[in-house]
Amino acid sequence: MDDRPIGMFDSGFGGLTVARAMIDLLPGEDLVYFGDTGRYPYGPRPLDEVRGFARQITRMLVEHHEVKLVVVACNTASAAALDLLRFEFDVPIVGVIDPGVRAAVAATRNRRVGVIGTVGTISSGAYQRAVHSQRASVDLTCSACPGFVEFVERGEVDSEQVHVLAQRLLAPVVQADVDTLLLGCTHYPFLARTIADVMGRDVVLVSSAEETAFEVLGILEDTGLGRRTAAKGVHRFVSSGDAAWFRTLGGRLLGPELDDVEGWSWD
Ligand code: DGL
Repeated sequence: MDDRPIGMFDSGFGGLTVARAMIDLLPGEDLVYFGDTGRYPYGPRPLDEVRGFARQITRMLVEHHEVKLVVVACNTASAAALDLLRFEFDVPIVGVIDPGVRAAVAATRNRRVGVIGTVGTISSGAYQRAVHSQRASVDLTCSACPGFVEFVERGEVDSEQVHVLAQRLLAPVVQADVDTLLLGCTHYPFLARTIADVMGRDVVLVSSAEETAFEVLGILEDTGLGRRTAAKGVHRFVSSGDAAWFRTLGGRLLGPELDDVEGWSWD
């Protein structure tokens, strides 16, 4: 039994897909969500730089908010920094790549799986490594989707322009005849309708959000770090960018739990 909050972070709004799953599965847990909107996007940045950001944010969550566990709710940051964070911090660190691969492998029938993500995530090879370490016998087709995140961050999730971009960027996974597409970027579930239109209704779209929340639940149960209470948890949202915009768009994406946003400055 541990009353400390769970910390989670993303470069911006995308991790709210994971926050939604966490709030639904672990309603009694307190959460601190940090969106690094002042420095987003992470996807096009060198992985070394993203690693530095992830370390700085994790330290802030552990030292300033005294969190008991950190969810790296960003594929790019998970690809860049998970091993380092696990080595440097004493609290459990959960990423989104392994849970996503588990969910995709469970869903596929023809063993052909597509993964889409940012340039940083796809070029890191993290998904190939995760498939290999889980000894999953699937053919993986990976495709970077630069530009998708920017549409989500503008709140433009089903416009004609994003549809045209999706047709171009998803062509490799369509051609690979995948029956399962893993949304390897926490922003992409917000584009699910557009992506599903392009992929066709026979292709199952899988996100890592629910599986990640189940991994957190398992760790809390195994370690005794869970908060056993009937009371609803307190959810705090912190942004390094424009807090008012975070509240407006974040509230639309996550729902009523996001009613207040605190600002944070790195200086
Ligand atoms: N949330 C990031 C991810 O899951 C994408 C957004 C970004 O490029 O910063 O990879």
